[in-house]
Amino acid sequence: MVKTAVFVSGNGSNLEALVAAKARGEMEHVTLSLVVSSKANNYALQRAKNHSIDSVVVERKRYRDDIVGFETELRSHLKRYDIQLIVLAGFLTVFSPLFVKDYENRIINIHPALIPSFCGKHFYGLRVHQAALERGVKVSGATVHMVNDIVDGGQIILQKVVDVLEDDTPESLQLRIMEQAEWDILPKATEIIARQIIAGQIIAEQTRECFDE
Ligand code: GRF
Repeated sequence: MVKTAVFVSGNGSNLEALVAAKARGEMEHVTLSLVVSSKANNYALQRAKNHSIDSVVVERKRYRDDIVGFETELRSHLKRYDIQLIVLAGFLTVFSPLFVKDYENRIINIHPALIPSFCGKHFYGLRVHQAALERGVKVSGATVHMVNDIVDGGQIILQKVVDVLEDDTPESLQLRIMEQAEWDILPKATEIIARQIIAGQIIAEQTRECFDE
């Protein structure tokens, strides 16, 4: 079993998808040991409580420019729970290169577009879907990728395509991508990486830019 921490900042629907997948027996090599939230009082924390998963709040705003202090507190929680895999599920903070290096090939992230489109540091939340609609793409989707030094630049683990409809708004596209792609591929990718960790496989590190950079 791979002890896994899910990092959240907001609603936590992807956390819910992970819990549901685990309950269906679809993540047999994953233990959801800890939820880490960068914000206090969000619904993701309530979801953790509902499912009796331990949670900690490490408020990003309390550390302001002190990313090292923020990550030092994160590390103490990760050590305490002996965490081997980190799943970023709507986590809004970018880690320092040192933190990424220390957890190399052990941090994955879900991005609500088909990387390398509509990704990089300016693309989060509804902006991603707004940009996709403005560009007139006919399909979009979601990507789970390894986290490396480049925002949304790590090795792609899974992707899933979702149709864009003519009358889509950023909100309707966001919801369809979550329902049809994110909640499906995040648990699958988590299980894939957990199996690789157990097997001791080294995952090839790749660095790629987004088209938009
Ligand atoms: C998702 O769209 C995810 O792709 C992005 O942030 C959003 C988080 O949603 N990284 P939730 O908190 O899991 O509901």
